[in-house]
Amino acid sequence: MNDSAACLSSPFDLSDQPTYLAWRERKLAEAPRQTTDLVVEVEDMAHLTGAEHAALLQRVRRCNMAIYQERRAAAGRDGKAAVQALGRALGLERLDANVLADEDGITPLAVHREGNRARYIPYTERPIAWHTDGYYNTTPGRAVRGIVLHCVSPAAAGGANRLMDHEILYIRLRDENPAHIATLMRSDAMTIPGNAEEGLERAATPGPVFFLDPAGNLSMRYTARARNVEWSEDPGVRAAAAAIRRLLNGPDELILEHRLQPGQGLVANNVLHTREPFTDDPASPRLLYRARFHDRIAGT
Ligand SMILES: [Fe+2]
Repeated sequence: MNDSAACLSSPFDLSDQPTYLAWRERKLAEAPRQTTDLVVEVEDMAHLTGAEHAALLQRVRRCNMAIYQERRAAAGRDGKAAVQALGRALGLERLDANVLADEDGITPLAVHREGNRARYIPYTERPIAWHTDGYYNTTPGRAVRGIVLHCVSPAAAGGANRLMDHEILYIRLRDENPAHIATLMRSDAMTIPGNAEEGLERAATPGPVFFLDPAGNLSMRYTARARNVEWSEDPGVRAAAAAIRRLLNGPDELILEHRLQPGQGLVANNVLHTREPFTDDPASPRLLYRARFHDRIAGT
C-alpha cells in the first residue's frame, strides 16, 4: 500500500467491506503455500542486483516476507556488515536498540550456557512461541517494522521457524468475527509488563495488537508467551486473544515452516514467527544474526 491509496480507501477499515473483500481475495490467491515460493537466489547479499532486488520485493509485497539464498559468500566476509548492506538495499536503515545487541546494533544469536545472555530464551535451545519482534515497544516511531534474520550456521538438529503473514491472521480473525479486529486495535488491548525480555529496562507498556502506520500499513504486536503479556480483562479482548491462539495452533495451509540453511536469511515486515527447539553442537554452534529495524521494507 502507498500513501495515496491510504487516503482513499483501506482494506483495514471495518466499515469498507468491498475494499476489504477485494484485498482479501488477492491476498489469499497470492499467498505462498510452500517456503520454496519464498526463496530467491542471490549471488552476493551485500550487493543485490536489480533483478534479485525485484524478486525479493515481489515476494514481500505478496506475503510480507522473502528468503534469500546466497550462492556463495566470499571467504572471511564480515557477515554483520553484509546483513546491514542487505537491509540498506531494502530501505531498512534505522536499527532498533537492544542492550544485548553488539555495538553495531545487530544481535548474534548463539547458545550461551553462562553469563547475562544465558538468562534469555533466544540464547538457549528452547522453543520461542509465536510472536512479532519488539512487541514490547509502543513508543510511536520506534515499533519494529522490518527484520532480517541471517543464518551463518544452523543447529545440529531443529531450530526451524514457523511463519505466518500477520495480514493473513487479520483475515482469519475478521472472517471469524469482525469484532475481534475492533477489539484488538484498542489501545489497552494488551500490556507488556516491565523488563520482560532481554534485559530491556522499561515500564509496563499498554498498547494495541493491530495498528496502522501513518501510510495505512498494518502492523502487529503479539506474543503467545503468557508471562510476557497481560491481556485486558474485557471479555471481547479475551475472546479475540483466544481466537489468535487457536488460529496460530493451526492447522492452516498458510502457516509455513522453514529451517534456514547456511547463507539463507529471512527478510520481512515483522511477520509472526516461532523458533522451534533445537540441539546445538558446541563443536559447530548455531549462529544467526538478527537485525530489527524501525523501517518497513521500502516499496512494499
Ligand atoms: Fe523473533
